[in-house]
Amino acid sequence: MNRIDFTSKTDCFTLANGVKIPCIGYGTWQTPDGETTQNCVETALRLGYRHIDTAFAYGNEKSVGAGIRKSGIPRNEIFVTTKHWVTERGYEKTIRAVEASLENLGLDYIDLYLVHWPCVEKISPDWKEINGDTWRAFEKMYKKGKLRAIGVSNYQAKHIDALWERAEIKPMVNQIEFHPGYTQMENVRYAQKKGMLVQAWSPLGSGALLGDETLCRIAGKYGKSAAQICVRMALQCGVLPLPKSTKEDRILSNAEVFDFIISGEDMETLLNMPLLGFSGFLPEDAPADALCE
Ligand code: A2P
Repeated sequence: MNRIDFTSKTDCFTLANGVKIPCIGYGTWQTPDGETTQNCVETALRLGYRHIDTAFAYGNEKSVGAGIRKSGIPRNEIFVTTKHWVTERGYEKTIRAVEASLENLGLDYIDLYLVHWPCVEKISPDWKEINGDTWRAFEKMYKKGKLRAIGVSNYQAKHIDALWERAEIKPMVNQIEFHPGYTQMENVRYAQKKGMLVQAWSPLGSGALLGDETLCRIAGKYGKSAAQICVRMALQCGVLPLPKSTKEDRILSNAEVFDFIISGEDMETLLNMPLLGFSGFLPEDAPADALCE
């Protein structure tokens, strides 16, 4: 489906293995564990989101699971992503990490499981093998039916290439930081050319760029909020946005992006904004407590 043809947040991208994934997800990074996450997830589902993104390292998988159950929405109508943390690299540890996330979430299967950060040269000269070993466990759990789709996060072209050589089942997703002021467009295109779906974490630049003059001027032109422009921009690049908010009105409005199209000229402006809202996280600075078992 052409991204401009999407008409609702439950319209889907199709992953390389045919699995459908709702085109906007609700992000939970930095959402405090406990009642806050539980209520936010329940609220997002009540407001029509059907795609929730978490990670073991966010420390809120249990509350995400509780929110899903509290919503009363059937499991098979919700797409759940979580991520493998850097301390769990290597085959055996990765198998156990999948089991731990399943247990935390209280689910029988995970819709999408991602490598949170690549192992990189600075961490180990054997980074390619380490990433390959981790991936073998992803493949094993995928074949067992515990993971409906598998992918990576924060990978650059060289990490993708090294994994591609070793993978029997190719990664289907690369989730990266993406927003006006930091789009990593080369990285986006590289993954897309390989048939991977690119997802945007912090599509609003963690909120830091929402007061930017250029962004606000463009938003004003369409009668939209700056956040809505960011979310829509991602979709028009074929990138799946994962906006997050703890406030009900924003959870709702951030996904109300299907009644306008950003013009080619405005897309150019948005894609060429100076560096803004960048988190400072680079793969080469991936946490180093991450050696293979
Ligand atoms: P809050 O939870 O108070 O709404 P990102 O998804 O890029 O990481 O951005 C998340 C941040 O942006 C959070 O701090 C969130 O704060 C804020 N945010 C989310 N939606 C909006 C919005 N529509 N307007 C302003 N700030 C927003």
